[in-house]
Amino acid sequence: MSDTSRKILVTSALPYANGSIHLGHMLEYIQTDIWVRFQKLRGHTATYVCADDAHGSAIMLRAEREGITPEQLIDGVRAEHMADFADFLVDFDNYHSTHCEENRELSSLIYTRLRDKGHIATRAVTQYFDPEKGMFLADRFIKGTCPKCAAEDQYGDNCEKCGATYAPTELKNPRSAISGATPVLKESQHFFFKLPDFEAMLQDWTRSGTLQESVANKLAEWLDAGLQEWDISRDAPYFGFEIPGEPGKYFYVWLDAPIGYMASFKNLCAKRNELDFDSYWAEGSTAELYHFIGKDIVNFHALFWPAMLEGAGFRKPSAINVHGYLTVNGQKMSKSRGTFIKARTYLDHLNPEYLRYYYASKLSKSVDDLDLNLEDFVQKVNSDLVGKVVNIASRCAGFIHKGNNGVLVAGSTAQEPELWAAFQDAAPSIADAYEARDFSRAMREIMALADRANAYIADKAPWALNKQEGKQAEVQAICALGVNLFRQLVILLKPVLPKLAADAEAFLNVAPLTWADLASSLDEHTLNPFSALLSRIEPAKIDAMTEASKEDLAAEAAAPVISNGELEKEPLAAEINFDAFAAVDLRIALIEKAEHVEGADKLLRLTLDLGGVKRNVFSGIKSAYKPEDLQGRLTLYVANLAPRKMKFGISEGMVLAAGPGGSEIHLLSPDNGAKPGQRVM
Ligand code: MSP
Ligand code: ZN
Repeated sequence: MSDTSRKILVTSALPYANGSIHLGHMLEYIQTDIWVRFQKLRGHTATYVCADDAHGSAIMLRAEREGITPEQLIDGVRAEHMADFADFLVDFDNYHSTHCEENRELSSLIYTRLRDKGHIATRAVTQYFDPEKGMFLADRFIKGTCPKCAAEDQYGDNCEKCGATYAPTELKNPRSAISGATPVLKESQHFFFKLPDFEAMLQDWTRSGTLQESVANKLAEWLDAGLQEWDISRDAPYFGFEIPGEPGKYFYVWLDAPIGYMASFKNLCAKRNELDFDSYWAEGSTAELYHFIGKDIVNFHALFWPAMLEGAGFRKPSAINVHGYLTVNGQKMSKSRGTFIKARTYLDHLNPEYLRYYYASKLSKSVDDLDLNLEDFVQKVNSDLVGKVVNIASRCAGFIHKGNNGVLVAGSTAQEPELWAAFQDAAPSIADAYEARDFSRAMREIMALADRANAYIADKAPWALNKQEGKQAEVQAICALGVNLFRQLVILLKPVLPKLAADAEAFLNVAPLTWADLASSLDEHTLNPFSALLSRIEPAKIDAMTEASKEDLAAEAAAPVISNGELEKEPLAAEINFDAFAAVDLRIALIEKAEHVEGADKLLRLTLDLGGVKRNVFSGIKSAYKPEDLQGRLTLYVANLAPRKMKFGISEGMVLAAGPGGSEIHLLSPDNGAKPGQRVM
């Protein structure tokens, strides 16, 4: 190995603990995982840590809505996230949470060091406050009428209609999105991190090869415009860490989130003796530190974070590796098109290594967005992985088992010195591509080698030779070389396809392969029986996955339940006028027929009779009702809701129910005497 062994600490951004992982997130975790696996394969000491980002008002409010504690919410979500990552073969050395003791201590330490060095300022800030809920409102929790174009129901910082940005105080008719109350202006003391103190350091650091050029240019714009002090405190109630010595004041979630990288590593150090926290994080550490992130969170990682580290006497990152956003079929992921695909929904239908390979074949150092085109995905995986790579082994293995008891003859690589040398010579360039995160180039060069291997076998046609008298030795030599070339490809692809590599190692009957094994070959070596390593993607699976993604959405929308029933925890929605109410056409409906829907876990199909007019509705109430118990019942029905197209058909409107979910869903019924089709007012 040319490099001496390096000590490398790698992170991916910490996903928020209030939602599911989707294929956009997976782009980042797969990119990072491939890079870390490559470093480990090369014999370096690489450590990959991550955690759930568990703090903030969104998590606090969601827990309240669900009638559980924030701790219960984040524990459940973390378990779900960890299962998703494990099944996508993302191999964290540690997966922690920002809501942990290590993070509380480190956040306090960093804050007090910054404060003691004079990098913290305090001053009063006037903000909207929800008098009913008793809390200050972040911009996204304030709604009102756009001051520029008068569009109603816009968020506190920008208008979706006309694109204007403004201060929440400029909104007309502001109201709290949480309680519906009219917010009042209120003053409170806030804590600020004095980012301008670090301007000279940041000018330097952002220009010292730590960032991709386009990212450095963007930061130069911000730096030239002048840095602002950063508000790092939030008032109670807030789910987070209280600021030391400041009762009722909490660290803003983005203050302790990146410290979560350190906390997760510290937690790992306690489990692994050979890891020493200070040798990775102390000022002057020679270990390398890389953060992989999406382009939306660059300011936090390339401005605030290095400044915090510098101010608190810790080392700064070696580099921030930024990727673009994922689009699906050329567009932003869309729930209604079924392209907002959750990690779990993908895994329910497809092999994780297909996606790992596809992302690898598209990823480069660029910050540009990256498209998952589902047709191209099927085509590329089938032609490259199944058609080129796996095919080599399946073509050769049979002859070796039948003709030579599964033993690879010796000296197979010497018969084609040029071909073997081509594989050897390509390895350094492929390694450079992995190192530089230019995975698409690595995949292209690996597939070019696979093409050469296939061309060699096609040219020699062992299946034809095998039928000729006296050609058996030649057949064995050709197929032994074929298997050796396959083994080279497996090593080269191992960072991307760890499961395929493990299965191939079992077939090859070898210990886990490393990059150094590229220099050797298998001679006089016994193989294990060959079993199919990877099958083709059937396009029907793609349709099933997008349909299931639509069902995820429909089940969310058709689930009549978000309330635990306590008005205090689930405050009334914003007030509406009578016209808005009258716009909803509520009718009495007779459930004429209720039936299971094949392939749907949560939905029942209801045929409703509205006094002669029939309607078809899919309702997410399967967890609480047997179809036979519903037939013949009257219920309340929203008749003028826009129809929704689903895999199973069109859902027209919805029936009304209440309750927290699961078996606790209660369909509403009118009193005796109501007639199907009557309007409810
Ligand atoms: N919690 C913060 C990160 C804190 S790091 C100290 C956060 N969480 S997130 O869940 O919204 O995003 C996690 C990562 O996934 C981010 O790097 C983000 O850029 C990335 N992605 C989220 N959606 C994405 C796509 N659609 N495409 C590519 N990456 C995406 O931000
Ligand atoms: Zn507007």
